[in-house]
Amino acid sequence: MSKRLGILLSGRGSNFIAIAESIAQGRLDAEIAVVISNRAQAPGLAVAKERGFATAVTKSTGAELADLLEQHRVDLVCLAGYMRILAPECIARYRHRILNIHPSLLPAFPGLDAQAQALAHGVKISGCTVHFVDEGLDSGPILRQAAVSVLDGDDEAALSARILKEEHRIYSEAIAVVLSGRYRIEGRRVIEH
Ligand code: GRF
Repeated sequence: MSKRLGILLSGRGSNFIAIAESIAQGRLDAEIAVVISNRAQAPGLAVAKERGFATAVTKSTGAELADLLEQHRVDLVCLAGYMRILAPECIARYRHRILNIHPSLLPAFPGLDAQAQALAHGVKISGCTVHFVDEGLDSGPILRQAAVSVLDGDDEAALSARILKEEHRIYSEAIAVVLSGRYRIEGRRVIEH
């Protein structure tokens, strides 16, 4: 039986849509059990409803959120533009079963506005990272990264768009690795086997 994903989002939801499309196109063996947002007005939540997925809205980042995920029998939680820090109780109950996608090559530029941080610093390469969520900010063990060039003419929108294309590709790949169980975590390193 397919493993069940719980998607958490706060905004437009393009990573959620990319995951849903990977599943629909048979590139990812999983099902989306529920899409949860902290914002009732999140555009991504409207897309989830239109497409017939179960949805929920909660401000909780801790016990109630973990209860909701369990009620929907979620195996793996995917943060997809979720703009809240999860509380320790939720992280503990879903230890090593929560992924996040971040628009930089971590550990560079954690936190908000990673693409603007990259431009301000003048790096020539940036990218995106899929990592397990721990109690730190964008700090858990790294599963996948993809690099993109930063071009001289880039503004935040241009760089963000180039990175987003890679986000959509590597998030589904990383989810497939976790669902396959063919990896182990050694300290900070994720070793695939
Ligand atoms: C993405 O850039 C993601 O890396 C970051 O927030 C953005 C969400 O975009 N965490 P979307 O809502 O998935 O379109």
